[in-house]
Amino acid sequence: MNPIDGLVPDWRALPGAPAPGTELCQLADVPADNGLERRFGPAGSGFSVVLFRAGESVCAFVNRCPHAGIALNFGDDVFCLFDSDGQRDVICPHHSALFRLPEGVCHEGPCRDDRLTPVPLAVEAGVVRIAPAR
Ligand code: FES
Repeated sequence: MNPIDGLVPDWRALPGAPAPGTELCQLADVPADNGLERRFGPAGSGFSVVLFRAGESVCAFVNRCPHAGIALNFGDDVFCLFDSDGQRDVICPHHSALFRLPEGVCHEGPCRDDRLTPVPLAVEAGVVRIAPAR
């Protein structure tokens, strides 16, 4: 069992969540200095996942801040990343919570110790997918 199972919402239970194994993008599509959003379902009420670079790999989260449930982007595919002392954070644009990547844990801000909801990935031959069901 994943050690964070039961501590954060299950992405699969959210409205519009795509099926495990769904292709999200090419690995090369994930920018080094920004996030990449992918949306599923109806605009405004569907499912949004954001991918970030984490060194040579990528991580993904439901695009929703646990503080007030608002998306993490400032605009289409505009996310604010902050690098310091070899660590990378994504900053929520609403109340400035800092989430450490690749874990997605808030270490400063109004939802300290809360987590972004992780979406497990599988990368094969340069293609990034939501991890297949186990
Ligand atoms: S909605 Fe993200 S810090 Fe408040």
